[in-house]
Amino acid sequence: MEIIYSIRKKAARLRRRIVLPEGPEERTIQAADFLVGEGIADVILLGVPGAIRDQAARYGLKHIAQIPVVDPYRLDPDDQERYVEMMVELRGAKGVTRDVAVKQLQDPLYLGAVMVKAGDADGEVAGAINYTSDVLRPALQYVKTVPGISTVSGTFIMRIPDKSFGDGGTMLFADCAVSPDPTPKQLAEIAISTARTARSIVGLEPRVAMLSFSTRGSASHPSVDKVVEATRLVRQMEPGLVIDGEIQADAAIIPEVADRKAPGSRLGGRANILIFPSLEVGNIAYKLVQRLAHAEAIGPVLQGLASPVNDLSRGCSVDDIINVVAITACQTETL
Ligand code: ACO
Repeated sequence: MEIIYSIRKKAARLRRRIVLPEGPEERTIQAADFLVGEGIADVILLGVPGAIRDQAARYGLKHIAQIPVVDPYRLDPDDQERYVEMMVELRGAKGVTRDVAVKQLQDPLYLGAVMVKAGDADGEVAGAINYTSDVLRPALQYVKTVPGISTVSGTFIMRIPDKSFGDGGTMLFADCAVSPDPTPKQLAEIAISTARTARSIVGLEPRVAMLSFSTRGSASHPSVDKVVEATRLVRQMEPGLVIDGEIQADAAIIPEVADRKAPGSRLGGRANILIFPSLEVGNIAYKLVQRLAHAEAIGPVLQGLASPVNDLSRGCSVDDIINVVAITACQTETL
């Protein structure tokens, strides 16, 4: 909880503009009201103003008059022209004509991403009623990646009740949200992005385990080779980073097992970042730890984008949306 408290406090200091494309959605609009009322972020709601007003009245929201609403079907003509020009310039070669751009802008998820790219919003949060892939695609197409990184990934900040793991029970897991089958280079970028998130958002000094079903050559398989190569690339890209791989999960997080399987490992069985070899493993692992160990899973925090865009779970609560907006605001400072 103290992590979230400090993230909300930092967001309030930054006071960023975060666009919420799912404007009239009931949890989103309640979160927006709280965020503005508490001064955690300035928000922009996308949607038909009448629908937003009706929802605000239904929930007795008090701050809605202070929140700008942008109707995707009635964009300010100057804004629309600015967005269309930018979209055609960025993706004309990919088939985005003026007509395609105008049509895309009617989709709040595209409009939100384009507003971020145009600098009219500092970040975006969506996904309360949309699939992850539909939230991600416009961001991947228009916001694009930060210089030096070509892979977007999603990390979960795991708060594990057993405080002997990670740093006082806090660990980061990645990629749990985006890239189904990363190449060694993509896996290396996922590790580097997660280390940055650990430092900038959570305040941890990273100790990265590149996980596999093998430790130091105990098994041979192409998927082990992938992790070995990814580890080599990370060492090349960021020589100072504390990292070990390929390594099994027990040797990564249990000092006694590390002594036996990976003697001399810089991690010493005390990893606070776990990088999984594929999305399948990462997604399953975070959900199992969340349920079986009663861990709190904060995220996914999307990393690698040039400006922050974050995806919500469709099962999210109002509080979850508030927290993800606060994280998004904090990410603007580190990009
Ligand atoms: N990083 C950076 N760019 C990417 C990535 C990535 N990981 N993946 C795709 N792109 C780029 C492509 O290069 C392409 O760029 P271009 O159009 O300029 O050439 C653009 O994004 C769109 O790519 P497409 O191939 O059209 O999109 P695709 O259909 O592959 O979708 C997506 C990409 C949405 C990320 C897909 O891989 C996906 O659905 N991933 C899984 C998401 C998911 O369901 N996660 C699990 C649930 S989340 C949870 O449980 C927490």
